[in-house]
Amino acid sequence: MLTTDSTFEIKLTESSAIESVDFDDIKFGQVFSDHLFYLDYIDGEWTKGVIEPFGPMSMSPATMCIHYGQSIFEGMKAYRQPDGSVSMFRPGANISRFNLSAKRMCMPEVPEDVFMQALVELISIDKDWVPHNSNSSLYIRPFLFATDSHVGVRPSNTYRFMIFTCPVGQYYNKPVRVKIECEYTRAAIGGTGAAKAAGNYAGSLLPTKLANDKGYDQLLWTDSKTHTCIEECGTMNVAFVINGKMIVPAPSDTVLDGITRESAITLAQDLGIEVESRIVTIAELEKAAENGTLTEAFGLGTAATVSLMSTIGFEDGDYDLPDLSTWIVSSLIKKALDEIRLGNGEDVHGWNIPV
Ligand code: COI
Repeated sequence: MLTTDSTFEIKLTESSAIESVDFDDIKFGQVFSDHLFYLDYIDGEWTKGVIEPFGPMSMSPATMCIHYGQSIFEGMKAYRQPDGSVSMFRPGANISRFNLSAKRMCMPEVPEDVFMQALVELISIDKDWVPHNSNSSLYIRPFLFATDSHVGVRPSNTYRFMIFTCPVGQYYNKPVRVKIECEYTRAAIGGTGAAKAAGNYAGSLLPTKLANDKGYDQLLWTDSKTHTCIEECGTMNVAFVINGKMIVPAPSDTVLDGITRESAITLAQDLGIEVESRIVTIAELEKAAENGTLTEAFGLGTAATVSLMSTIGFEDGDYDLPDLSTWIVSSLIKKALDEIRLGNGEDVHGWNIPV
């Protein structure tokens, strides 16, 4: 065990796995950095955090998160800077959203200062895992789950907060074909759609698989009541360019308030692009597709970054978007986002937080 002036207990690995990683060909979410962080919540208090080697953990088969789904997570990223240092992108926004998710799922909030300190120390220890390649980054996965060993539906009394990291490349390695989903529902008003609750993702798997079987990569979810308004993709928020304007479905009880989404809107406005954050109906999208004014469609997310859509599947047929080389708005936003995250442009909004 190594003792430092950290408030955490730190146990370093004796055998780093970094030599086995091909940083030029990283598959998203399949390679994990050497260490993880954990912090337990017991008897109404957070205990001392631990940084230790990444590895399996043992749990009671009755651990409540497995049965009743009290489990939330976040996705954030850290980037290699030109001088070799490392910066996280808007970690404060992820911490705030994490604690909103915790509240919604009846879980204790993680103290913001402890959360930030854990990120800084964990990433500092594993800083060699932050890729140097500009198409790659270090994905950071904080999560919180119920740990009581108990059968019966009630909030758990104990929880574990953890963070691990993984070097990643692109989430989607080609433009995505999306299908507008009008039968299944991702989130309903009063439900958990605005939280990053694990169960939201589980519920999306069957409808996504059915769409995959028809040749689509992802779904464009619609509102649960009328199935007439576009919400989000589940893996990312969405934006459309219609008549040169960037139109983005507004966050709501049923749409995740995406940090990449909000950053993209801010950058678009900085660039003088007109942006509307509002309800977007299928009818509006279909009309714009028919009359040729729908010129770009893309996803915005931490994992997905700016992911272009090649096709939108409507009930009565597919609409293939114009040739990607003609897309202006998404490419300007991607360039502006990359410049800030990779430290090649002025960080006017103060989004980069050095590790
Ligand atoms: C993220 O963008 O970080 C997410 O959590 C989405 C998930 C599909 C990886």
